[in-house]
Amino acid sequence: MTSILPHGGTLINRLAEGEERLKLLEEAAGLPRIEISTWTVSDLDLIAVGAFSPLTGFLNKEDYESVVKTMRLANGTVWSIPVTLAVDESRASELAAGTRAALVGQEDDVVYGLIDVESVYTVDQSVEAQHVFKTTDPEHPGVAKLLARPSTYVGGTVTVLNRPQPEKFGEFYFDPAETRRLFAEKGWRTVVGFQTRNPVHRAHEYIQKSAMEIVDALFLNPLVGETKSDDVPANVRMKSYLVLLKNYYPENRTFLGVFPAAMRYAGPREAIFHAMVRKNYGCTHFIVGRDHAGVGDYYGTYEAQEIFSNFTAEELGITPLFFEHSFFCTKCGNMASSKTCPHPKESHMTLSGTKVRALLRDGVCPPPEFTRPEVAEVLIEGMQESAAPSGS
Ligand code: ADX
Repeated sequence: MTSILPHGGTLINRLAEGEERLKLLEEAAGLPRIEISTWTVSDLDLIAVGAFSPLTGFLNKEDYESVVKTMRLANGTVWSIPVTLAVDESRASELAAGTRAALVGQEDDVVYGLIDVESVYTVDQSVEAQHVFKTTDPEHPGVAKLLARPSTYVGGTVTVLNRPQPEKFGEFYFDPAETRRLFAEKGWRTVVGFQTRNPVHRAHEYIQKSAMEIVDALFLNPLVGETKSDDVPANVRMKSYLVLLKNYYPENRTFLGVFPAAMRYAGPREAIFHAMVRKNYGCTHFIVGRDHAGVGDYYGTYEAQEIFSNFTAEELGITPLFFEHSFFCTKCGNMASSKTCPHPKESHMTLSGTKVRALLRDGVCPPPEFTRPEVAEVLIEGMQESAAPSGS
């Protein structure tokens, strides 16, 4: 069975193995060190396993400028989010094109990899913020992250020598080469990818299952990298996905695997990025609902869908499936959207994320039309555990 081509045509693999790895580890000990944050460790690993194909490293100046301004790499390939390595100026001054440096975890001193430096450049982060996030507001969590990093970037091809180890739920980590193989083994010709940084509520379930009616299978691919502090922690979410899948989804048409990336909250641009990455994992379709990857009211409800019209179907290579804002309608007696429901707003059950979190924190289950009771129970337990003072 031929599966969907990775973005750019080739699944990138920048993992060093065996003898070569040992040799490079030895060499790394004598190289200049660049300390990298947990976020950058995750970007590095995702590059190495091909999730960010066609990237082979952190963006060089030319690609960076092109991505920021045009949502394409310099060679024209669609790429909407700059994946960059920010380095303190004092460290950057020791690096130049042609040098090799070790990438070392800030938190744990692990040598995660090497970079063969091709460019060192200083950027205007407010220009990057405006293009990528459509705002320079430091209250925006993505902008805040961006502005907190140094503004000198190092570009170049990377090689990974050690991989980050998940603390929990390790059995749900799959590299793109593995998901591609598994989807093919299962005989799935079409797979729809679903990105989420939230628990799966009934609206999410509805759009997933609407998509499942027209494809072979669902790849539930929750993002478990860094998120903002008031999002539900990944470990709690994982428990909630498992209980939901067990009770409400067909096992032979559903696959759960995590996306260990950081959340950018870049709305429309991140929707394109999320779609390209899911193509690399072997998905043929990708769900984009309302305010995908949005935060606050920085983006229009359907902007993350509209942005896809900037690209041709061939350039994207994965089919986006767009869904309207969905809800439970008490008059219809089922889930619906404005496309399928004729009733007025008063019959639509909607709850804001803030309201749901407040209910859960108080130990109250949201209505079953909003959240499956089994899911609510897991979330209540998880929220209370994470709210408990440490040591208790
Ligand atoms: S996201 O930041 O990962 O996009 P979330 O986990 O809430 O946030 O959303 C996952 C996907 O479900 C996104 O494609 C989003 O647009 C979609 N979505 C979330 N809630 C709804 C809803 N009520 N109706 C339609 N789509 C929704």
